[in-house]
Amino acid sequence: MTPDLMKAGAQIRLAREHKVAAAGSSGGRSASFGHLNEPGTLDVRHGAILYLDDITVSFDGFKALNALNLTINAGELRCIIGPNGAGKTTMMDVITGKTRPDLGKAFFGSTIDLLRLRENEIASIGIGRKFQKPTVFEHLSVFENLELALKADRGVRSSMFFRLNGEQLDRIGAMLTLIHLKDSAQRNAGLLSHGQKQWLEIGMLLMQDPKLLLLDEPVAGMTDEETERTAELFLSLEGNHSLVVVEHDMKFIGELTQNGKNGKKVTVLHEGSVLAEGLLSEVQANEKVVEVYLGR
Ligand SMILES: Nc1ncnc2c1ncn2[C@@H]1O[C@H](COP(=O)(O)OP(=O)(O)OP(=O)(O)O)[C@@H](O)[C@H]1O
Ligand SMILES: [Mg+2]
Repeated sequence: MTPDLMKAGAQIRLAREHKVAAAGSSGGRSASFGHLNEPGTLDVRHGAILYLDDITVSFDGFKALNALNLTINAGELRCIIGPNGAGKTTMMDVITGKTRPDLGKAFFGSTIDLLRLRENEIASIGIGRKFQKPTVFEHLSVFENLELALKADRGVRSSMFFRLNGEQLDRIGAMLTLIHLKDSAQRNAGLLSHGQKQWLEIGMLLMQDPKLLLLDEPVAGMTDEETERTAELFLSLEGNHSLVVVEHDMKFIGELTQNGKNGKKVTVLHEGSVLAEGLLSEVQANEKVVEVYLGR
């Protein structure tokens, strides 16, 4: 969930609980919504949507990322694996502005310098992130969660009184179908299964139409069937979105890469750097990779 969206949800809840009369205001954007001062448009003409170049992050001298290089192409679905502590989550923290690297460069397309932007700015230029734990608004219905995500950039006051037009209703309807929650639209999100909450959060991210989606262990805790459906969902997003998927579940990685039939690359991180990159079968047969996994 984006920082702005978290704030919006919290404020809507407050407004409901205290019956705040927000009507009649100018409908202007809430000051809490940090909007961009035109950081530049996304330029993917060179093919890549994300470039990480020699990114190094140290925590008290320990290098969680050590001269990490990674390039993701526009429309690509890239799976990233690696043992615990390899730096996968830290890499996402750098891309989303949560952690500042000591060294290196991070670009979104060829022109947008991510290291110059704040976390909320990075979210609003089209980088969506899914944390491992689902963070949906449990007290709101599934429909309302999606509605809120759709309207989040309008500011809290206007979003509460802004009526959905037909096109927006259609978008929410299509999203409910995509994330397999059509029959649960009116249920409180708190009543969903763990897997359904994960889908709802993915749906909320998608309502904001991110260009790049970062998914950290999206199928952790899901049933086998939910995991398979999630693989189908991600495969259907590929092309229109770029996805970076971090997972330990190798069956899921196999489904996403169709075991290499589509030539999709997998990246293996270890000790903050890329240890290997290639088809799933290639990295699984790579001696260095076998060693770091067995050595765990
Ligand atoms: N804020 C922090 N302060 C100190 N050390 C940190 C911090 N964040 C991460 N680390 C350390 O950096 C290393 C990389 O952590 P990270 O969470 O990125 O690994 P990961 O690849 O996501 O692992 P996992 O598969 O277990 O989620 C670990 O050794 C971790 O303990
Ligand atoms: Mg992690």
